[in-house]
Amino acid sequence: MIPSEPCFSYPRYAGASPALDDAYQLIEDAKVFYRGQLVGTVASVDLNAPASNYADCFVRDFFPVGLIMLLENREDVVRSFLYLIMQLRGQQEDLEGQQIAPGVLPASFRVQHDESGNERIIADFGDRAIGRVAPVDSMMWWSILLQAYVHYTGDIAFAHGPEIQRMLRMILSLCLQSRFEVFPTLPVPDGSFMIDRRMGVYGHPLEIQALFDSTLRAASLLLPESGSHWLLNMAQRRREILRSYVQRYYWLDMDVLNRIYRFETEMLGENVENLFNIHPETIPLWVQDWLPDDAGYFVGNLGPGRMDFRFFAQGNLLMLATGMATANQRVALTNLIEQRWTDLIGRMPMKLVYPAIEGDEWRLITGSDPKNIPWSYHNGGHWPVLIWPLVSALLKSGRADLAGMAWNLVEKRLMLNRWPEYYDGRLGRLVGRRANIGQVWSAAGFLLARYFLDDPGLLLRLGIDEPSPAEVSEVNS
Ligand code: GLC
Repeated sequence: MIPSEPCFSYPRYAGASPALDDAYQLIEDAKVFYRGQLVGTVASVDLNAPASNYADCFVRDFFPVGLIMLLENREDVVRSFLYLIMQLRGQQEDLEGQQIAPGVLPASFRVQHDESGNERIIADFGDRAIGRVAPVDSMMWWSILLQAYVHYTGDIAFAHGPEIQRMLRMILSLCLQSRFEVFPTLPVPDGSFMIDRRMGVYGHPLEIQALFDSTLRAASLLLPESGSHWLLNMAQRRREILRSYVQRYYWLDMDVLNRIYRFETEMLGENVENLFNIHPETIPLWVQDWLPDDAGYFVGNLGPGRMDFRFFAQGNLLMLATGMATANQRVALTNLIEQRWTDLIGRMPMKLVYPAIEGDEWRLITGSDPKNIPWSYHNGGHWPVLIWPLVSALLKSGRADLAGMAWNLVEKRLMLNRWPEYYDGRLGRLVGRRANIGQVWSAAGFLLARYFLDDPGLLLRLGIDEPSPAEVSEVNS
């Protein structure tokens, strides 16, 4: 493909509305080529972006773009992207005295051209990023995109190739490695996923657990004959335990809150109620007023003596969209989104975290991060990219009406404001203080949500959601 050639010849929504056309155009403008092949898109086309790595292609940012590529018959681009990312693994440099685990994939990469026109890829494994944290979620988004590719195209042969098999085994072995842990959830350092700087999201953040579940599902792509049987069994078993653990212990509704409020502490032994030794004094004041009676959500983090009561959107939405929440939890969480619409959606779907941390808490937890001041960026800012998981979650709950309402809010403002990365303020009325414009995943999220709204069945066809056991037996009978 010649770099100036359009990537989509006549995409599904061409001419449907100026905002949809503009969103496709932004993806076109963001194309990254390597050896003449389209392999990704930059995070933002804003030449004045506050950090130079916005000109990189990020694995997590490419995910919604990758799904659009699949829907627009550009599966070749997804294949090239998956292949390239996998090969970059070899570029990982040794850190002094230790190595980043071999299954870890880069957060981002860029193609550099020297004077004689030679191309070189530079990958960032967290060794160049602000805060220097290894991106745990990259390997997860990579495996979820691989599953989407296989589900949508039926090209299982690609996943069965020896290199992909090796990569999958590495990722699963890394996630399933035994550590010093007693929980089935996966422990990670602060800032190792979409929130990629200090925000008190170390330990067992919800988003990582939801991504972990979908990653374990990728074990079904392993060929059993290549000695992977044990890995497959272990992944299946872990997935069952992980699901029931998160459903049981992360869930918060008024009944659970009442129980925690009256918890006894310092309980030893088996079958105790207060397993994690949560002190009721740690329940923040806002929770009791904010949580509606017939609603609930999954708390942001859980560990010894610690329950992070903040509402983290991406984790909660993935719990819904991927079918990880129980049927009752699905109803209650959807009620919460509907009843707390002003706080969580406001003028721009959707707030990444509610509520913001302020004062001493902000100082101690973020390390006085001026980018993450209250109600901005990762600390209570609104991220338009979340429209695709929001729409997916609401469709899964049978609430196409709410999904449509949220999408209309995006359509009205995003193009007008030139596709910002995030919005600020309690309601998301302000364009983010240090937000880029021309942020590609904002446009991709918006587009992808449109495809889902018009054809909710895509969630199953792309393998984001999976049929429930009852649905599977219906099909087989
Ligand atoms: C910011 C976000 C991160 C995103 C990156 C590129 O660092 O926190 O999630 O991947 O920008 O858009």
